[in-house]
Amino acid sequence: MSKTVLVTGGTGFIGNCFCKLLLTERPDWNVINVDVCTYAANIHTIDEELKNERYKFYKVDIRDREAIFDIFEKECPNIVVNFAAESHVDRSIFDPESFLNTNIIGTSVLMDACRKFGIERFHQVSTDEVYGDLPLDRPDLFFTEETPLHTSSPYSTSKASADLLVLSYFRTYNLPVTISRCSNNYGPYQFPEKLIPLMISKALKDEPLPVYGEGLNVRDWLYVEDHCRGILAILEKGRVGEIYNLGGHNERNNLYIVKRILKELNKPESLITHVADRHGHDQRYAIDPHKANVELNWDPTTTFEEGIVKTINWYLSSYGQNWLEECLKTTEEWMKKNYNNRK
Ligand SMILES: NC(=O)c1ccc[n+]([C@@H]2O[C@H](COP(=O)([O-])OP(=O)(O)OC[C@H]3O[C@@H](n4cnc5c(N)ncnc54)[C@H](O)[C@@H]3O)[C@@H](O)[C@H]2O)c1
Repeated sequence: MSKTVLVTGGTGFIGNCFCKLLLTERPDWNVINVDVCTYAANIHTIDEELKNERYKFYKVDIRDREAIFDIFEKECPNIVVNFAAESHVDRSIFDPESFLNTNIIGTSVLMDACRKFGIERFHQVSTDEVYGDLPLDRPDLFFTEETPLHTSSPYSTSKASADLLVLSYFRTYNLPVTISRCSNNYGPYQFPEKLIPLMISKALKDEPLPVYGEGLNVRDWLYVEDHCRGILAILEKGRVGEIYNLGGHNERNNLYIVKRILKELNKPESLITHVADRHGHDQRYAIDPHKANVELNWDPTTTFEEGIVKTINWYLSSYGQNWLEECLKTTEEWMKKNYNNRK
């Protein structure tokens, strides 16, 4: 049955992958991308999608109530999936306010529009960072949906606040909501300020690869398409009012990731430079995806080894092309401004 899905942040890394998935695998669904295009969005990311007659793009801020309500009135979406966010922890440490505004207030504007115009589902894309971190010496511990919220950074706090707001709209207004909390994603089109694309890009240019502290912080890596398939499964099979953890049981520490990238690119480990650790740096994230496995029959299908090679090859083929060069310029300017004295 035909549906109209309004995707916010669809010019970003994961939102775009989700739009691609819908256009390919749900041939009678229409996709509306609402994205204000911050520094993290490169318009060339959606070049292909713009050619598709089932895809529409609005360059609009999710905090702009009037504009958002106009879009809802015109497009009558059945489903809203909210990816739009300020998403980089480091930036949240320098500028918390924009994170609170977009990630919390923006989410409330979208849900108010859903209440006014009616909706089958509002899905909030959240993160495992809302659970805080786990100690490195307790590999037996994992985040479940019942793990208490215990945030560390302004970013994760803004996401946790939004999650609470989403659950309050379910309880107070009966808005049919779901939430997914996902581990670290990687794959094509990720903005090169995040670990994997940053390290690939630096290695390609034979520049030093800055690793926080000793590089022992552990993340549970999930290939972006697996994340998007998990969200689609929640839309189609998930129960309203529920939270689903999505993760890959693919735990790796940062140093392993960096060395793996260097090996694949045939570059020396002497490019690694250890820099001062991030303030409040979380030690380990690890998701227990049991609920999503059992209720949604969802399982990641891309192993870390397959995913990292696909990702490196994508960045290799983008090297010297407009998309990557423009994104790198933005990243380098920000790093120069904020990390000039980093040791
Ligand atoms: N990247 C990860 O590893 C990861 C893991 C778990 C959860 N998430 C969540 O997934 C979502 C997408 O993450 P991503 O990595 O694709 O981020 P991203 O930074 O690549 O993309 C975010 C997109 O949101 C848009 N945006 C930002 N503020 C906006 C606003 N006020 N109005 C409209 N659009 C706005 C940006 O222009 C950008 O296109 C975020 O909500 C993030 O918290 C990300």
